[in-house]
Amino acid sequence: MTKGYLDYQSASPVDPRVVEAMIPHMTEHFGNPSILFRSDGDSARQALEDARGQVARFVGADPSEIVFTSGATEANNMALKGVALKLQSKGKHIISSVVEHRSVVTPLKYLERLGFEVTSLPVDEIEHVRQVIQYYCVRWMIEVFFRVLKSGCRVEERRFEHIDRLLSCLAVYLIVAWRTLYVCRVGRGCPDISCEAVFEPAEWKSVWNVIHRTTPPSVPPRLGEMVRLVAQLGGYVNRKHCDPPGPQTIWLGLQRMHDFALSWQLFGPDARAGPKLV
Ligand SMILES: Cc1ncc(COP(=O)(O)O)c(C=O)c1O
Repeated sequence: MTKGYLDYQSASPVDPRVVEAMIPHMTEHFGNPSILFRSDGDSARQALEDARGQVARFVGADPSEIVFTSGATEANNMALKGVALKLQSKGKHIISSVVEHRSVVTPLKYLERLGFEVTSLPVDEIEHVRQVIQYYCVRWMIEVFFRVLKSGCRVEERRFEHIDRLLSCLAVYLIVAWRTLYVCRVGRGCPDISCEAVFEPAEWKSVWNVIHRTTPPSVPPRLGEMVRLVAQLGGYVNRKHCDPPGPQTIWLGLQRMHDFALSWQLFGPDARAGPKLV
């Protein structure tokens, strides 16, 4: 009888490529990556930083945001206690579900003893399950929003002399991040409406012209189609059965679209006067 192991979340075999990459570090080039003076730890440190960079690129984060832990119990403790204690001035109510692993339940009990209120949502009926998944989906959207703001707009790298300027900059980038996500979500949720619900004529016409190299049609394309065209400007490969584009290619595409739209307004067929030569 063939056996199947379905809980790869809790334990899984290590990919042979990972084993191969790790063997030199576990046998010959072992060392403490955090050691202060020059030693064999240098190669361990380099390998660790390379791995951190790869993971960061894969999940669209900054390498400084990647923290390696010894396992899920340590990670869950660090994340739950760290976030709860840091943000306790904003709220002390934590929502969880009754099916969480002990590595989540135990730190939550600890936080309860510190005065946090913990609600464990039931998942006995399909409606309960739907509700919990919906909470996670909303949470995921917030994650994506902040990813656009941090990794896309790089707000943390902006440096200003005064906080007022930083706040104004942040206000603009919050709108940019919101618009990127909005285009992404509406493009997926309402692909059949006219793209003019979201894009100006100069925007869709210029993008159409650049991608198709033909005169734009008299009727605006559908929104789903237009979002794919914009994302193509950001590196999205528009194959028939591909998933709809995500925020990253849309964000890159929107930046290029703005330049094309401005050129279209100044020099395109709808421009009122000829280009001004200054
Ligand atoms: C869902 C889940 N979370 C956390 C853990 C704990 O993982 P670790 O042994 O890496 O601390 C497990 C292990 O079984 C698990 O299945």
